[in-house]
Amino acid sequence: MLAIPAVGWSPDTRALRIIDQRLLPAQEVVCDLVTLTDTIAAIRSLAVRGAPAIGVAAAIGLAVALDADSRSDGARARALLPSYASALIASRPTAVNLAWAVERMRRVAADTTDVQLLHTLRLEAESIRHEDVAMCAAIGRHGLSIIPDGARVLTHCNAGALATAGIGTALAPIYTAHAAGRLVTVYADETRPLRQGARLTAWELSRAGINVTVLPDGAAASLMAQQQVDLVLVGADRITANGDVANKVGTYGVALAARAHGIPLYVAAPWSTIDPATATGRDIVIEHRHAEELGELPAGVPAWNPAFDVTPRALVHGYLTDRGFVTPPFLS
Ligand code: MRU
Repeated sequence: MLAIPAVGWSPDTRALRIIDQRLLPAQEVVCDLVTLTDTIAAIRSLAVRGAPAIGVAAAIGLAVALDADSRSDGARARALLPSYASALIASRPTAVNLAWAVERMRRVAADTTDVQLLHTLRLEAESIRHEDVAMCAAIGRHGLSIIPDGARVLTHCNAGALATAGIGTALAPIYTAHAAGRLVTVYADETRPLRQGARLTAWELSRAGINVTVLPDGAAASLMAQQQVDLVLVGADRITANGDVANKVGTYGVALAARAHGIPLYVAAPWSTIDPATATGRDIVIEHRHAEELGELPAGVPAWNPAFDVTPRALVHGYLTDRGFVTPPFLS
């Protein structure tokens, strides 16, 4: 398996290091970010993206920016922490992992002295990154049972190595099955409008030597009708207490088509994506993005551009996590 350091530390640990995903697949450009403004801009512009990756980026970015802006003064860093944390949480609302990671940072800060604060924040950010790597690997191991030799898997958006610090969530069982010598064919929805499937999923799978074909989003139902898909495997940005799933816009349509054709749809996510505090999909804040992302429109024509949609629990065949397969309700 090829490691892709989508999010981590610069070698001197003074900066958050990311691959600028806006430029893929044409260019592989690594960026080192130090200021809070740069980290927030990277998250908002999807230079770093994917629910687990933005959680890791926020944690490392917070530790790095507080250190730089306080000139390594713990008391000053503590004074800056609340506004920095709130600004990071507000940068993208739908993926729970972002707020989850920042809240973890806040909690450890509250339990330590000013002298230890910056060191403690760095350690916690590194734990969040390291745990993400382990959670991805565990999702891969548990998911091996649903990827038999010869499996044809349809996925939507990118829930792979580029969306995490490890080998991904939805793509983790695929990487693990491939490493175990199984033949896997992946159909990657293009994922309009920002084309994460065509640009990112296809890039990382082909780089790993895995068979991948890109299709326009609107062709997924026809592919299922032609009996070319054995299962659908997608990631998640938030899973509510009742099991509803927010994921990249278009996932709901894929889920409806899969149900109509009797194809199981699995959602793969780390345990940290489950949000027992949010009761149902109706309570999830869906991020809406700029009209420009849809390309040129006739003058005066408005756009409706939600970044995510909600797939109801009834359309989900199974929930795959780092703790194995789990079943809603998720009450704790
Ligand atoms: O807007 P994006 O590219 O951040 O959306 C990403 C997705 O919807 C992924 O499927 C989700 O975050 C899971 S990533 C492991």
